Parts: sequence; C-alpha cells; structure tokens
Amino acid sequence: MVPSIVSDTTLAADVPESQQTPANAPTNLLFSLSQRTVVITGAGRGLGITLAVAVLEAGGDAVCLDILPAPSEAEWNVITKIQKASNSQARYYQCDITKEDAVTQTLSEAASEAANRGKPIRGLISCAGVQQMIDAIDYPLNGFRRILEVNVAGSFLVARETARLMRDQGIQGSIVFIASMSGQIANRGIHCSAYNTSKAAVQQMTRSLAVEWGEYGIRVNSLSPGYIRTAMTDQLLEEKPELDKLWMAGALLGRLGAPEDFKAPAIFLLADGSSFMTGADLRVDGGHCASA
Ligand SMILES: NC(=O)c1ccc[n+]([C@@H]2O[C@H](COP(=O)([O-])OP(=O)(O)OC[C@H]3O[C@@H](n4cnc5c(N)ncnc54)[C@H](O)[C@@H]3O)[C@@H](O)[C@H]2O)c1
Repeated sequence: MVPSIVSDTTLAADVPESQQTPANAPTNLLFSLSQRTVVITGAGRGLGITLAVAVLEAGGDAVCLDILPAPSEAEWNVITKIQKASNSQARYYQCDITKEDAVTQTLSEAASEAANRGKPIRGLISCAGVQQMIDAIDYPLNGFRRILEVNVAGSFLVARETARLMRDQGIQGSIVFIASMSGQIANRGIHCSAYNTSKAAVQQMTRSLAVEWGEYGIRVNSLSPGYIRTAMTDQLLEEKPELDKLWMAGALLGRLGAPEDFKAPAIFLLADGSSFMTGADLRVDGGHCASA
C-alpha cells in the first residue's frame, strides 16, 4: 500500500492527483531535503563526497559509507563548515558495501540516530563503485567477479537494507543509483567489459526495484554520468594519457564533467520535485552519447 498524503478513509481515486503528490508545493521546496537523512555510499572521496555536501546544502543529514578508513580531508572540511553553520549533520562510517553484516549493522545504527534527530532515512545515493581497464580476452574471472560484486551486488545490498528500513517505518523515500553512460555504450579506447556490464546491470536493477518497491512509496532511479575528473578517471588517464583527446572529441560542451555537475541532478532525484519519477535513468554526460 503506497503511503499517501490523503487520509486512510478517503479513496485515492476520489482525490485529485494534485492533492496526492508531495510535489504540490512551492518550487523552491521541491529541491529541499529538510527533515530527512540520506545514505551515501562511496562518500569517502570523488563524486560521493561531493554529493554528501549537496545533501547537507539541501538541508538533509548525510550518512557517509566508504571502505576508506577516513574521508578526503579537503571535502570533509567543507562538510564540517556546513554543519557548524546549519542544523545539518554528516556521519562517516568505514563500511565495505559487499559485507552483509557490516552494512546491516551500520545502517541500523544510522537509522536509529536519524530517527532520534527527527530526520529519518528517506533516501540513498548508491555511489560506491570500482573500475578496471583490462582486455576482455585476458580478463581473470576473479577480477571480473569482483567488479560485479561491488558495483552490482554491493549496490543491491545497501539498497535492499535502506528500502527495508523505510518500508518498516512506512516512510516514502527515493533511491538513486549512480550508474554510468557506460551502461548504455561501450566506450571507445578503454576496455572495461566488467565495468560496462556492471553499469548496465545497475540500470536494469533500477527498473526491477522500481517495479517492486513502488507499492511502498519508494522511488528508484539511476543517474548516469559521462566522464568526470575524479581519482577513478585520473588513474585511467595515467595508464593511457591518449584517452584525454578521445574523450574530449565527444565532449559537446568542450569539457569533461566535474563532481559538482551532479549535485543538482542527484538532489532533484532525491527530493519531492521528482515525485512522479521512478524506474528512469537520467543521463548527464555533457552530450557524449548524443554523437557518434
Ligand atoms: N569518474 C567518472 O568518470 C564516472 C563516470 C560514470 C560513473 N561513475 C561512477 O560514479 C561513482 C563514483 O565514482 P568516482 O569517479 O567518484 O570514483 P572514486 O574511485 O573516486 O570513488 C569511488 C568510491 O567508492 C569507494 N568504494 C569502492 N569499493 C567500495 C566498497 N566495497 N565498499 C564501500 N566503498 C567502496 C571507494 O573507496 C571510493 O571512495 C562510481 O559508481 C563510478 O562508477 C564515475
């Protein structure tokens, strides 16, 4: 049963849609995350920690999970400043998203704290991911499996636990998987068959979970970036410097992406403004996939 803003005694069919949607609010509130906490995986650095900043800036609390022992100092300093100047809070947990016990325990602890603060968990940005450039013909099976283990199974595990927490409390929420344009296209110049396969799986998992969890009022969408300058792509460029020219050839706006380019798209997908959106993929790639 979808938790609804109409009373239990009123049939939803009798109530106009405009009164059923949380999006029926002034536009500036449609991007607000106030009164809610968002879990972010891969929030130790790169895109994930920038999206944690965005969550705080939008008025939410952030629960940051990463396998790294501590987050990047420069970005965490930004988070600390926002916390001091607002009512928002971020907590960092070292957690491997492929370990079921660790994920369950971490999220259960985070959910209790969020509930005590009156800002229950109502969202997830599943951003943790790993990349590897290896010719498919030489790909060791264990290496291929490891990419799927983190990017697909680990992402599923955190999404399932977050969805359970929301369902058990009868709370509506939004799950955002960070996929990639590589889920739809195979990038020229880099041989990443496991990574590309994993991102296509994330996009299909998005649709599958949206079908199952709509009944709990949980929306599930994916956000598919193009090339972003982060530690992940720096490593690829270090291994193959000629990639820069190739990537720029498809950059219709004359530049690669920055983590900040994904703040607004991620907040849009989490907040009430996207209330009628589920099972969709939002591609933000500087036009890369628009040209051959
Ligand atoms: N950088 C790009 O060009 C690009 C493009 C498209 C999609 N993406 C996706 O964006 C996401 C973030 O990528 P990024 O560029 O910031 O890379 P990144 O390597 O800087 O960040 C990934 C983070 O995930 C964490 N992580 C890895 N394995 C983990 C595990 N088992 N448990 C918990 N945390 C784990 C890492 O420690 C790291 O902090 C990834 O899912 C990536 O596939 C990146």
